[in-house]
Amino acid sequence: MFGFFKKKEPVETFDYGFVSVDMHSHVLPGIDDGAQTVEDSAILVKEMMAAGIKKIIATPHIMVDYFKNNADTIFDALTRLNEHLQAEGITIPIEAAAEHYFDEHFLDLIDNGQLMLINNQYVLFETGFTAKPPNLIYTVQKIVDKGLTPILAHPERYPYLSLEEVENMRGWGCRIQLNTISLTGYYGKDVKRSAEALVDEGFIDFISSDMHHPRHAAAFKTALETSYLKKLKDSGQLQNITLL
Ligand SMILES: [Fe+2]
Repeated sequence: MFGFFKKKEPVETFDYGFVSVDMHSHVLPGIDDGAQTVEDSAILVKEMMAAGIKKIIATPHIMVDYFKNNADTIFDALTRLNEHLQAEGITIPIEAAAEHYFDEHFLDLIDNGQLMLINNQYVLFETGFTAKPPNLIYTVQKIVDKGLTPILAHPERYPYLSLEEVENMRGWGCRIQLNTISLTGYYGKDVKRSAEALVDEGFIDFISSDMHHPRHAAAFKTALETSYLKKLKDSGQLQNITLL
């Protein structure tokens, strides 16, 4: 009578269901600087599932100086993880590709057709954090010429990269992947600001966790509270769900 029985406004539940597919993470055990054991991997996988992720595409580093991964090491780790998850009763589809580091080896893999692709189409790659590779656009063109689609990982983390250059890369057919946790300030204020500017410009095609360890998992949850993630959701521009 005095409002005790007034219906509460429904609270909008917000999780990663609108993304569904996490397509950049280091959850495969023991082959890069991400999860080291199947138990570590299971913790990260469960965190992603709890946040609304329906499918995981694991992307271990291929970096010739540090992580000499190839199809054999990656699929072996995927098998070990899937066997462990099955034994633990954890059910989620997991596929494997790679995060290719922009080095000489990457150029060889492009030439030899030995890239680890996402959905037989996408080439996820990163560069060093200090300097822009001189042959960046040329390499993007080369990948596109092969009928594949390059995806630049976390451009907000490269101080050398301007918004204009990101726009130019998109113009050449490169897609752009933002690390969701950049929006929380996890990598610092400058990266957060850069992430927000990329969102404001409408340059983000994919988002993902880039999850290596439980601290990333915690930030992944916190990102759900940011207005910029909501902005990305409302933009309808993200393509993650096409990978389902
Ligand atoms: Fe990564």
